[in-house]
Amino acid sequence: MSFHAIEQAPPRLNRSELAVPGSQPQMFEKAADSDVDVIFLDLEDAVAPDEKAQARKNIIKALNEIDWGKKSMSVRINGLDTPYMYRDVVDVVEQAGERLDLIMVPKTGTAADVYAVDMLVTQIEDAKGYKKRIGFEHIIETALGMQNVHEIAAASKRNESLHFGVADYSASMHARTTVIGGVNKLYSVLTDADESGNRDVHWGDMWHYAIARMVVACRANGLRPIDGPYGDFQDPEGYRAAAFRAAVLGCEGKWAIHPSQIALANEVMSPSDDEVTRAKRILEAMAEAEAAGKGAVSLDGRLIDYASIRQAEVLVEKAKQIAA
Ligand code: GLV
Ligand code: MG
Repeated sequence: MSFHAIEQAPPRLNRSELAVPGSQPQMFEKAADSDVDVIFLDLEDAVAPDEKAQARKNIIKALNEIDWGKKSMSVRINGLDTPYMYRDVVDVVEQAGERLDLIMVPKTGTAADVYAVDMLVTQIEDAKGYKKRIGFEHIIETALGMQNVHEIAAASKRNESLHFGVADYSASMHARTTVIGGVNKLYSVLTDADESGNRDVHWGDMWHYAIARMVVACRANGLRPIDGPYGDFQDPEGYRAAAFRAAVLGCEGKWAIHPSQIALANEVMSPSDDEVTRAKRILEAMAEAEAAGKGAVSLDGRLIDYASIRQAEVLVEKAKQIAA
């Protein structure tokens, strides 16, 4: 164990995160009534350039007037390379900063990008006398952002989560796909022929390295890793498979680009009853082992030890957070 203790971001349920275009205010009430954990009101890629100013106004009004309940509220600002970003931050934080929990920064590329937004937000918060600090979510969706992901993760005390933005990431990498998320049959392994000459195709997960790399940066800095969009909202099984792959690698949430994906994300990203029961049994078995002076024992024919306690505690803690 390193002597360096990892400070954890404020605990926040983030199993599902719904994208809602700021230019579509008729969608806001439905989003507020949904079971989603986090909503991000979008000023970036779902909003056309000549609608940016009106979308900002819609978002400010909605943050102040709609009852969003216990949901965490975020706004996705425009990128630092656009002429919209400064006004997104100034207007939204000045006029609706009290109900805003998070700012989502797209295409974060360097630690200096994080510093720039932090400086601006800090000035506005201090000038307005806000007590609460707004947290940051960064989308890792460019080659530069992925290269610098560790520095980005460590760049501000406001950082809470990193998100894998698969659509822009594919574009940035010149990856040969035009779909948003999911797998590509060209990324496959062909087995050798069996006795009858048949060969099998095993599809691979082309996003494995990117997501796993982002998860490392998150966990080494106490942040939540969140998987991004799955564009085909008429394919719940494909969504579920993508979400499970991300969850198995350590992600604790996934975007919903359509309300029908919220329940899927909540289901996949919540530990199942069986998992929680087994985790509790591990904790009981280890407590008994410890009382008997043993460090490792067997449970259901498998070895468990002190590392099993830490794995089980993560699951039990998550179940408590969901039940709260
Ligand atoms: C999200 O912003 C993405 O590009 O996938
Ligand atoms: Mg993007």
